[in-house]
Amino acid sequence: MDEPISIRPYGPGDADATIEIFLRAIREVSLKDYSRAQIEAWAQVEDRGLWAERRISRPAWIAEIVGRPAGFSDLTSDGCLDMMFVHPELQGLGIASRLLSRVEEEALKLGFRRIHTEASRTARPFFERRGFRVITKQIVEKRGQSLENFLMEKLYG
Ligand SMILES: CC(C)(COP(=O)(O)OP(=O)(O)OC[C@H]1O[C@@H](n2cnc3c(N)ncnc32)[C@H](O)[C@@H]1OP(=O)(O)O)[C@@H](O)C(=O)NCCC(=O)NCCS
Repeated sequence: MDEPISIRPYGPGDADATIEIFLRAIREVSLKDYSRAQIEAWAQVEDRGLWAERRISRPAWIAEIVGRPAGFSDLTSDGCLDMMFVHPELQGLGIASRLLSRVEEEALKLGFRRIHTEASRTARPFFERRGFRVITKQIVEKRGQSLENFLMEKLYG
């Protein structure tokens, strides 16, 4: 696909589209890296209102291809890149890379010297390609399931 990727700020109307990308990315892409029970425990959004509140509470961005949401990411006030999810039908097109560039631009503007993230097994190679290193492997509990992920960081300046 040669359609251009554009990045825009997350808006109040983006909750449903981002929930769909979140659930589908986990169920269809991360399925190769976790058991079905782990995927089911992770791919849940019980409270859509809380989701919408969280997304709007921090700088966040939507990647679009021909006006259609294709991925999203964000940056919390303590320099955590909390979310990085790309639509399963649009993997490997550079969408996460474009989102990360936008997150990094914001971090630079805010004077952060470091961004950290908790990367899934699926996302770890992506973040490594983009200059992050693993600080530690950790186990997180989600709805009764234990999932491995990686605390990673990238330093600037
Ligand atoms: C991880 C994820 C966000 C990457 O999105 P993407 O748009 O496909 O990534 P990009 O196309 O920008 O890839 C950037 C680079 O990372 C590499 N990369 C991405 N995923 C990779 C993988 N699973 N294994 C190896 N390399 C990978 C690409 O090859 C590319 O390298 P290159 O530019 O040198 O060729 C996407 O796979 C995803 O949504 N995964 C499921 C949800 C998830 O686990 N999210 C993270 C939660 S912490």
